Amino acid sequence: MTIRRGALIGCGFFARNHMNGWAEIEGAEIVAVCDRDFAKAERMQADFGVAHAYADAEEMLRDEKLDFVDVVTTSPFHRPLVELAARHGVAAICQKPFADSQADAEAMVSACEKAGVPLAVHENFRWQQPFIEIADRIAKGRIGRPTFARISFRHGFDYYKNQPYLAEVERLSLMDIGLHLYDLARHLLGEVETLSCVTQRVNPIVRGEDAFTSLLSHAGGAVSVVECSAFAKYEPDPFPQTTAVVEGTEGTLELTRGYRLFEHHPGSVTETNVDVAVPNWGEKPWQVVQQSVVAFERHFIDVLNGKTEAQPSGAHNLGTMALALASYESAATGSTIRMKDWREGGRG
Ligand SMILES: NC(=O)c1ccc[n+]([C@@H]2O[C@H](COP(=O)([O-])OP(=O)(O)OC[C@H]3O[C@@H](n4cnc5c(N)ncnc54)[C@H](O)[C@@H]3O)[C@@H](O)[C@H]2O)c1
Repeated sequence: MTIRRGALIGCGFFARNHMNGWAEIEGAEIVAVCDRDFAKAERMQADFGVAHAYADAEEMLRDEKLDFVDVVTTSPFHRPLVELAARHGVAAICQKPFADSQADAEAMVSACEKAGVPLAVHENFRWQQPFIEIADRIAKGRIGRPTFARISFRHGFDYYKNQPYLAEVERLSLMDIGLHLYDLARHLLGEVETLSCVTQRVNPIVRGEDAFTSLLSHAGGAVSVVECSAFAKYEPDPFPQTTAVVEGTEGTLELTRGYRLFEHHPGSVTETNVDVAVPNWGEKPWQVVQQSVVAFERHFIDVLNGKTEAQPSGAHNLGTMALALASYESAATGSTIRMKDWREGGRG
């Protein structure tokens, strides 16, 4: 079996899930880790038995023979690091938010296209087992043609403890969770034609918006409501569960809390438990997030081995980025945005 040689850049909070994931994948080996805070790179090296640690990504790309890099830094560093990989002819995974602007995202897509290397964005929500199952049932025609969806992520979990930078950013929930939910909406219902969005800042400790509600119309005629709050009060708190309803011409799929998936048809309903086992390196309530990281990484190795196209690729994620960025404009102006005009107008 070909073992793909990878390097991870950015050894912070979420990178531990990436490293645990890579350790599960037979066709890949992380041969180097890098963090500009070298102590973090050294800690990761020791914890996962990695051959080399670096403080400088340029030096690492010069010294190591790599098939891919896994970029797990925050977004301001994505473009220089992905472009660096492209210059070395190395494929890249980039964490979300892919970029802070449409121009930066387009530059990364173009650099990788020119270098002829795959670029995937780590949009892992579509790789969560409940959504793999929902997408599969839709593709099999189980609910007919989808006409309506509601995708909802509402909780009160204090994620500023693990990710303190989130409390400081001006653009919060749309660029953090919104991107994942918009990726799901496109994945399940197809391209978006129009969007309108209302944002809210509910938690007084954050600078940006921590809640939003969006209405999307999709090219096939379906409509979706995408909603998120990071300051909603529920007991027990449902973090990090996403719930969803997808109605079709023949039936409805309903994913409720507790990972219960109902399939409704006139006169019948079936229930499936779509929760996943907690990995031996993981813990509740993160199990579905952790499973999705492993599933995405396994998929990326299939991409490197020429078995499939990246889901999502950098090029596909440009449409998701556009939705998040256009949402700010919609919220600020109280307007409905026609996405084709927005993208052709070079906004964002
Ligand atoms: N997909 C998901 O479910 C999910 C969940 C959490 C976080 N994330 C994303 O993962 C990314 C990282 O988040 P985090 O919370 O782990 O951040 P973090 O701040 O804990 O870690 C980022 C690390 O990158 C390092 N770094 C920054 N620039 C670098 C450079 N040029 N070279 C080498 N190292 C560099 C920093 O020193 C830091 O250690 C963010 O974009 C975040 O949105 C995704």
